[in-house]
Amino acid sequence: MSRIQSVRVDQIYDSRGKATIEAEVVLESGAHARAGAPSGASTGAHEVAAFPKGGVSAALTTVRQRLVPALLGLDAGDQASVDSTIHAIDGTPDLSQVGGNSATALSVATAMAFALERGEPLWKVLARPGVDGRKFPAIVGNCLNGGRHAIGGPDIQEFIAYADDADPARSIQAALRVHAIIGEELHHRYPTVALGRGDEGGWVAAIGNVEALEFLSEACAQTRDELHIPVYPGLDLAASEFFEAGNYRYHDRTLDSPGQVAFVAELVDQYGIRYLEDPLDEEAFEPFAELTRAVGSRTLVVGDDLYATNVSRLRRGIDLASTNAVLIKVNQVGTLTDTLRTVDLAGSKGIATVTSHRSGEVPESWLAHVAVGTGARALKCGLLGGERMAKLNELLRLGRATGGTTDAR
Ligand code: PGA
Ligand code: ZN
Repeated sequence: MSRIQSVRVDQIYDSRGKATIEAEVVLESGAHARAGAPSGASTGAHEVAAFPKGGVSAALTTVRQRLVPALLGLDAGDQASVDSTIHAIDGTPDLSQVGGNSATALSVATAMAFALERGEPLWKVLARPGVDGRKFPAIVGNCLNGGRHAIGGPDIQEFIAYADDADPARSIQAALRVHAIIGEELHHRYPTVALGRGDEGGWVAAIGNVEALEFLSEACAQTRDELHIPVYPGLDLAASEFFEAGNYRYHDRTLDSPGQVAFVAELVDQYGIRYLEDPLDEEAFEPFAELTRAVGSRTLVVGDDLYATNVSRLRRGIDLASTNAVLIKVNQVGTLTDTLRTVDLAGSKGIATVTSHRSGEVPESWLAHVAVGTGARALKCGLLGGERMAKLNELLRLGRATGGTTDAR
């Protein structure tokens, strides 16, 4: 048994300079590991609370006084019992006493310490049945930012390079190339305007949605020609952020729900979009289903705020055929056990999973292991900045360690 000997939680900062939590778990064998939790900006209404009302300091007090004593002596190899202890001590449905970020840091640090003790990579400890570490996720790379991640840009939150090569090194290369071409083109078209980057490393420019999509699709086409790697446009609309009183309010147009479904379906066909996240409001299960019926054969339709990694919300989405994919963010739901429950439901129903970062990240690499261990269809982790690169570089290492795969997509 891999008994937990000591647990430490402390404040650290995320990539936006906001306070978050890291945990360190030490096992009796001496194996120990540390993990930090990220934070979102466009958080879904159905996520657990990242922190209790008093913020990070309240979380630290509660965890140190009440949760840590309950974790000591537990078996780090029994993730389910560690995670259920976190829930039991918290005692609320939305983890609002200890906070989802404490839960994530503790849960992941426990799994990492256990993996170290066993001398195995983290992905192996998390591996779902049938996962052998030789199948790698596509890359969902944020290239141009708007919405809450880049005030002054387009209303759509993320313009994405969806790079879908079986070899992760090639997918990463292609996504980075699309990002670079967009930067060069923006500079070329607006030579006197300073170019900024958003929270996830994508470019920020005061351009409209359609112009941004044109930049993106041209950069993808150029990259396909140059590198012969399959890379196509993707979007995360984060539509709940501009949904008000039944309408989708863009700077230049207001659309009702059927109007939004038709508008997005047209964008999918016009620009060859293959990755489409949160195109509708987080309560719009039925309109999501209409859109998936219309375009789901040509693109992943991914629920982020719609599901908030929550197993009951995903069940509802499966019953209604709302999407063909679900975004997976550990701290939306709290613990690894909750996360794996959602992953397993998705797997059993043929719903693709996309393992995702948050816009405020920590410079750690464990997310790449979650993606590989859960057999994710894609890894969404941004393209630039040390906190994003930590995950991409880890995926590269995992690709090299197993010799990659030659399976065709
Ligand atoms: P968040 O958003 O991390 O700011 O919540 C990212 C996303 O919407 O995918
Ligand atoms: Zn999203």
